[in-house]
Amino acid sequence: MTNFSFKSSIFLLFLSILFTNTIYAKEAPATPKKMMKHPSYTKGKCDACHTDKNGKSAKLKMEMPKLCYSCHTDYEKNDFIHGPVAAGACTLCHSPHESPNPRLLITSTINELCTMCHTEKGDMLKSGENIHPPVKDSCINCHDPHSEKNLFQLKADRKKDLCLMCHVDKKERITNSKRKHGAIEMGDKCIGCHNPHSSKQGKLLKAPDSKTLCLTCHSASLKTDEEGKLLKNMGQHLIDNPDLHGPVLWGDCVACHNPHGSDNTRMLKRPFPEGSTEIFSPDKYICFKCHEPKKITDKLTTEHTAFRNGDKNIHFFHVKIKRISCKTCHDYHGSKNLPHHLNNKATFGAAKFSLRFIESPTGGSCNPICHTQRYYDRVDPVNVKTNKKLK
Ligand code: HEC
Ligand code: HEC
Ligand code: HEC
Ligand code: HEC
Ligand code: HEC
Ligand code: HEC
Ligand code: HEC
Ligand code: HEC
Ligand code: HEC
Ligand code: HEC
Ligand code: HEC
Repeated sequence: MTNFSFKSSIFLLFLSILFTNTIYAKEAPATPKKMMKHPSYTKGKCDACHTDKNGKSAKLKMEMPKLCYSCHTDYEKNDFIHGPVAAGACTLCHSPHESPNPRLLITSTINELCTMCHTEKGDMLKSGENIHPPVKDSCINCHDPHSEKNLFQLKADRKKDLCLMCHVDKKERITNSKRKHGAIEMGDKCIGCHNPHSSKQGKLLKAPDSKTLCLTCHSASLKTDEEGKLLKNMGQHLIDNPDLHGPVLWGDCVACHNPHGSDNTRMLKRPFPEGSTEIFSPDKYICFKCHEPKKITDKLTTEHTAFRNGDKNIHFFHVKIKRISCKTCHDYHGSKNLPHHLNNKATFGAAKFSLRFIESPTGGSCNPICHTQRYYDRVDPVNVKTNKKLK
């Protein structure tokens, strides 16, 4: 293993050189390229390969590819052998004599070589899709041109290990996050969600949006690895609660969740209280990534929230003073029947009850188990002592 990481750090170094030189500085070479000659390709030594010393007859002294393997590594001793190599057709890619290209190749770049035969990958490179940078750079960043221990002659297992060779930050995240994601070790792992070569979508995603991806698995009730809790069947939940919260409506589950795991509850990108109550601070709620904290923190307001009695902020009262988390009243995935993504069934600790929210044109009322029916009115504030409307 230490050997592997040593090799991969060398590989990364090699890559950084490759990327800076090849992708970002594509100038023509200052001097014409020198011909590379195969060592034995000199007059009088043609019989290293041909029957005749001066190569007057093109007849080979051994059949291909045995001839080449008499001096070079036998690539066919590996598990997964590239089609033309298995066919002994070395000269479809290499000139046996001389070439202006490195490794005696018949084309000036590796990608030209590969797409000569893999024309669909050539079309992909020209398609205007989002191309994975190492693919644009060179196919052999991942594939061995001859043979390998892994399927498709890949330099490591295609589902995950290959990706982690370069994406060391992801390796760190999937290994050390407090909340890990089952998806990383299931089915096709990384390439279950990502295309390795290119995608019409951003982030090489296999689906038009993250929601489509997530719901392929989350349309069932899954059990967490950490505490064995049965998670909501989110697919069904969204069907049952079709008034979807903005980001969910747009298909953007990863606005809030990190698909690779995180240190926060439920793999959220920012914290969110686990329980029903929490001493308030805006940095404890992912919600303020998009919403204005003043809707909670301003004791008096006439602009930051509609949840107020006159100018008295009732969000402030519940969330700041009583320390009640948003999730008691709101469902930030989707809701039904009630406006403002309010819950029909609320949960507070172990208690489950109905909010019985009724909206009015200038306010509303609630009748949960926490208190009797209470009214608020933005225009004609309700007297909190008598719980009666002033008018
Ligand atoms: C490293 C092995 C090797 C050496 C050394 C070598 N050849 Fe070849 N030569 C080949 C192979 C392999 C082919 C068949 C190419 C193919 O399959 O397309 C070939 C083909 C040829 C041909 C047929 C036409 C062509 O170019 O495909 C001629 C002529 C020829 N060689 C001449 C020479 C002469 C002259 C020398 C020495 C100066 C020489 N070769 C040295 C491997 C070699
Ligand atoms: C007589 C021995 C011999 C034979 C036969 C031979 N080679 Fe070579 N080949 C060498 C030597 C020596 C080198 C230069 C040292 C090196 O780079 O490995 C070389 C270099 C190469 C290179 C360039 C490697 C580089 O690092 O740039 C390629 C590609 C290659 N050979 C392919 C072939 C192919 C294909 C055949 C069969 C048609 C073949 N060789 C047959 C001895 C041979
Ligand atoms: C599909 C194209 C293709 C075929 C077929 C192919 N090679 Fe290569 N070969 C390459 C490429 C590309 C490289 C450059 C690899 C690199 O730079 O890491 C290479 C590199 C080499 C090298 C340099 C050392 C190394 O392993 O990187 C040798 C030697 C070699 N090939 C020999 C052969 C022999 C012998 C055959 C036939 C059995 C063969 N090749 C068939 C594409 C091919
Ligand atoms: C001379 C034509 C030719 C060239 C050049 C060529 N390939 Fe291939 N490749 C093939 C053939 C033929 C197969 C076998 C197809 C099959 O088994 O269905 C193949 C198979 C593959 C496969 C496995 C696909 C599968 O479905 O099993 C990969 C991966 C691959 N090539 C990558 C490359 C890369 C990378 C390069 C450039 C270094 C390259 N090829 C250059 C002809 C070529
Ligand atoms: C970032 C790593 C990476 C690079 C670079 C890369 N590939 Fe692949 N390739 C993969 C992986 C992973 C798979 C397996 C995909 C799967 O199993 O769904 C694969 C599969 C393939 C296959 C067989 C399946 C298919 O998609 O047809 C071919 C052929 C292929 N690659 C060709 C190429 C060519 C040609 C290039 C360069 C233009 C290239 N690859 C560059 C990672 C890479
Ligand atoms: C040879 C190195 C290398 C390998 C192997 C590799 N990548 Fe990448 N990948 C990169 C580089 C370089 C970038 C561009 C910089 C970045 O976003 O980190 C990139 C970017 C990405 C991106 C972001 C693309 C975007 O549009 O922003 C995704 C997603 C990705 N890789 C997934 C994968 C997956 C999945 C695999 C395994 C199949 C993989 N990578 C294998 C080097 C690699
Ligand atoms: C459950 C689906 C899923 C799996 C499995 C998955 N990813 Fe991702 N990945 C995504 C999504 C969705 C994004 C976009 C994230 C965003 O926009 O915040 C992404 C983004 C990325 C990026 C771009 C940088 C970033 O973080 O935004 C890289 C690189 C990446 N993933 C690599 C990997 C690797 C490597 C694996 C396997 C260890 C993997 N992914 C597994 C869904 C997944
Ligand atoms: C390949 C199947 C699969 C896909 C695709 C998938 N998940 Fe998961 N997810 C799981 C499994 C299995 C679990 C339960 C195991 C675990 O992670 O604890 C899980 C757990 C979770 C959890 C709870 C994690 C915890 O530790 O409490 C959240 C949140 C989650 N997924 C969100 C997402 C999001 C968002 C997406 C889309 C970007 C997504 N999942 C895509 C399989 C998947
Ligand atoms: C606005 C932010 C946000 C968005 C967008 C979002 N989630 Fe969540 N999600 C959360 C929060 C916060 C929790 C934690 C809930 C809790 O602890 O009760 C959560 C919890 C979950 C859970 C665990 C549910 C359980 O039973 O404990 C799953 C699964 C999940 N989300 C999947 C998804 C999927 C799939 C999407 C996209 C369709 C998505 N989320 C979009 C904020 C979001
Ligand atoms: C990624 C940005 C984003 C995040 C994060 C986010 N929201 Fe939202 N939220 C929106 C958007 C956009 C709307 C407007 C569309 C709608 O009504 O769903 C909205 C609307 C709402 C509404 C309904 C407003 C109304 O008057 O109908 C509530 C309630 C709400 N969010 C609560 C939350 C809670 C609670 C959280 C934290 C768990 C949260 N949001 C996190 C973007 C976000
Ligand atoms: C005690 C229940 C309750 C709690 C706790 C609660 N809300 Fe609300 N929220 C409401 C009600 C009721 C409304 C509807 C006000 C109206 O339009 O009449 C509302 C409205 C909203 C709106 C729509 C815009 C606005 O302010 O009028 C957003 C966004 C929102 N809440 C976010 C949050 C966030 C974020 C949290 C947690 C930090 C939270 N809420 C906690 C009951 C609550």
